[in-house]
Amino acid sequence: MVSASAPGKIILFGEHAVVYGRPAVAVPVTQVSATARIDPTPAGEGLALVATDLDRRVNLAQASPDDPLAVIVRETLAHLGQSPPDAVLTIRSTIPIAGGLGSGAAVSTAIARALAGFFGQRLSPAETSQLVYEVEKIHHGTPSGIDNTVIAYGQPVYFVREKTLETFSLGGAFPLLIADSGVPSPTREVVGAVREGWSGAPERYEELFDQVGEVVDRAREALEDGQVKAVGALMTRNQALLGEMGVSSPMLDELVAAALEAGALGAKLSGAGRGGNVIALVGPGTSQIVEDALIAAGARYVIPTVVE
Ligand code: MEV
Repeated sequence: MVSASAPGKIILFGEHAVVYGRPAVAVPVTQVSATARIDPTPAGEGLALVATDLDRRVNLAQASPDDPLAVIVRETLAHLGQSPPDAVLTIRSTIPIAGGLGSGAAVSTAIARALAGFFGQRLSPAETSQLVYEVEKIHHGTPSGIDNTVIAYGQPVYFVREKTLETFSLGGAFPLLIADSGVPSPTREVVGAVREGWSGAPERYEELFDQVGEVVDRAREALEDGQVKAVGALMTRNQALLGEMGVSSPMLDELVAAALEAGALGAKLSGAGRGGNVIALVGPGTSQIVEDALIAAGARYVIPTVVE
């Protein structure tokens, strides 16, 4: 038996503008993860893909060409120069689906790693990220690649599409609350809506993306210097710009306002928006108050995490 796992992720700064070449910062979230396990079966049985949480079982040979599980398996096997083994590949995940925490990319990453492990081979983070990107394209059309990158590298990343990938260290501990709005975040649709907005008013959107880019660069410095208050203020500024892009929602705005009123140092939606989650940066002693306020404002659940 071989098993491998991958963490969830949150985008701290720069979602959407990152699709248009501006920088973004994302970090792994290890409190949630996806795991893939491979158990050999007798010769001739082929490769069965079992997604326990989704109650799905399909044989690779019968899977449709755009089935995301089958795509990552086929891509990885081709990359490793291997044929499908006789085995059961079981996927489990504690990452909420469509919650902005990178569940699809984490499942794909865990599968790619487990297959490499099964054949006694190694995949570098760059190779894994590239394989997972192929599946991300099925999930949401024109992804920037930030989700597969942060999950495959498992470290904070400063990312510019097709240009820069820098992992970096934080100069302090940043306690965050991840609050789920309970509304799925339809990444493909929201990315498409921004594209429509941009096509209709390119100058306005380019200006918004530039402003996000400035926030991201200042945020990276503040993260590296451990300036918690500055990071919080920049999160709230980023949220205002996301609102202007039309990717927030009354529910997300309410969660952000509730967190700030309860004393959070900053708050914003994270990921594609219109649903999914809100992240709030909290100071010492305010975590529980902000968590209670988020739940009272309708969050389905809150995951506390410390980014450090
Ligand atoms: C989705 O997690 C992040 C977006 O910026 C889309 C992308 O980067 O591909 C909204």
